[in-house]
Amino acid sequence: MKINFLDLKEFNPLKFPEILTAAEAAAAPILTEYVIKEMFNLHAQVSRTVWNIRMFDEEFNREGSGFLICYMDGGKAIAVPKFTISDIDENLKLDLQSIIAGFFIFYNVLDEIHILDVAVAKELQSKGLGSLMLYRIIRSNAKRGIRYYFLEVRASNKIAINLYKKFGFKIFMIRKNYYDDGEDALCMAKEL
Ligand SMILES: CC(C)(COP(=O)(O)OP(=O)(O)OC[C@H]1O[C@@H](n2cnc3c(N)ncnc32)[C@H](O)[C@@H]1OP(=O)(O)O)[C@@H](O)C(=O)NCCC(=O)NCCS
Repeated sequence: MKINFLDLKEFNPLKFPEILTAAEAAAAPILTEYVIKEMFNLHAQVSRTVWNIRMFDEEFNREGSGFLICYMDGGKAIAVPKFTISDIDENLKLDLQSIIAGFFIFYNVLDEIHILDVAVAKELQSKGLGSLMLYRIIRSNAKRGIRYYFLEVRASNKIAINLYKKFGFKIFMIRKNYYDDGEDALCMAKEL
């Protein structure tokens, strides 16, 4: 299956409420709640690390956080950066019937990005969606002068490690017993 991305304009209605119509402003919190629930469900299906729904909420509201979310719509993946106007633009047909395909959660401090969570729906894995999302994050943040990327990954998660290595991430440290079940974390970093 070929996956296309639409380049959507980044927009945060909560930060610019004055330029939203009343209908858009009313739709934003409903959509946010819906999206967070979908991300929580997808994470629970594919990830071995437990996140409760409150953690998604907290990250969503964290200063500097970024969510890249992909929705399947008629066979196309639509990438929706955190709070885009397109979330509530009928032309893009992202509505409560759309199916979440994958997401990245990260946050930005100074010229660094910290990747916190990544998931792709089981049936869509190994088709290039994770790579497309990561490519897009690196490309759009490079324009903002972001040079450093950091993340932790389970030592046994070969697919994720391969994804990061493909983008030039290197292991710089091992955190012993980092996860609740005692598994080690590989700390990986990339410098542009
Ligand atoms: C890790 C994950 C996000 C990767 O997303 P994806 O869309 O499946 O990744 P891609 O298809 O873009 O593949 C990226 C690279 O991973 C590697 N890869 C993909 N599928 C693989 C497989 N079955 N076996 C080994 N390596 C694989 C390849 O190196 C691939 O690059 P290439 O196809 O150019 O060779 C996804 O598998 C996932 O959601 N896993 C469960 C949740 C998880 O582990 N999250 C990571 C937390 S740190």
